[in-house]
Amino acid sequence: MPTARSASRNTSRAAAAARNQILSELKDDHKRVKKAYREFQKMDSEADPQSCEALVRQVLDELTVHAQLEEELLYPAARGAIADEDLVDEAEVEHESVKTLIEQLREMSPDDEKYAARFTVLCEYVLHHVKEEEGEMFPQLERVRLDWETLSAEMTKRREELMPEEGADLQAEGESGGEMAMAEGQSDDADSPSGAGQTERKTPARKRG
Ligand SMILES: [Fe+2]
Ligand SMILES: [Fe+2]
Repeated sequence: MPTARSASRNTSRAAAAARNQILSELKDDHKRVKKAYREFQKMDSEADPQSCEALVRQVLDELTVHAQLEEELLYPAARGAIADEDLVDEAEVEHESVKTLIEQLREMSPDDEKYAARFTVLCEYVLHHVKEEEGEMFPQLERVRLDWETLSAEMTKRREELMPEEGADLQAEGESGGEMAMAEGQSDDADSPSGAGQTERKTPARKRG
């Protein structure tokens, strides 16, 4: 009996650790968008359009990966597991709007007079969406039993697959706006093991093919 119980306790401890890792990585993504948006609000897009554009592109790239991870892996796992499945439907619909704004911004020139406005709307919308995820969906996920370890492994693998190109882009883009956003971000991210002095937190574990 004690053996079985401790085995199951170990299993659930490992599952809880995997679940916490998944949710905290997603929350870190959310935080980075918030920080970048705050940075964007301080920028002068006319005086420094290149920094603005670099920051916008960085956010678009990160959001694209994040949304894809949630849609491909997290939301399907949540569906059927959490009590309130409507939350998954709503989140998916919100992602559609987010992706439409992302596509529009990708096709826009930073000189476009609505560029900043569209990015602002995107960020505000994402903040609203994030509030629902962190306030409703994630707390429900914390209470359900899932194969969290497998999901965590799949999400890590998928994140790596989705990242490299964009990481390369960002490195090539260099040192302007994106760096400012991330530099600001570091002050709040002191607990992050990968946040020490690097502008690009996405790349450390990525392999280029
Ligand atoms: Fe989402
Ligand atoms: Fe999210």
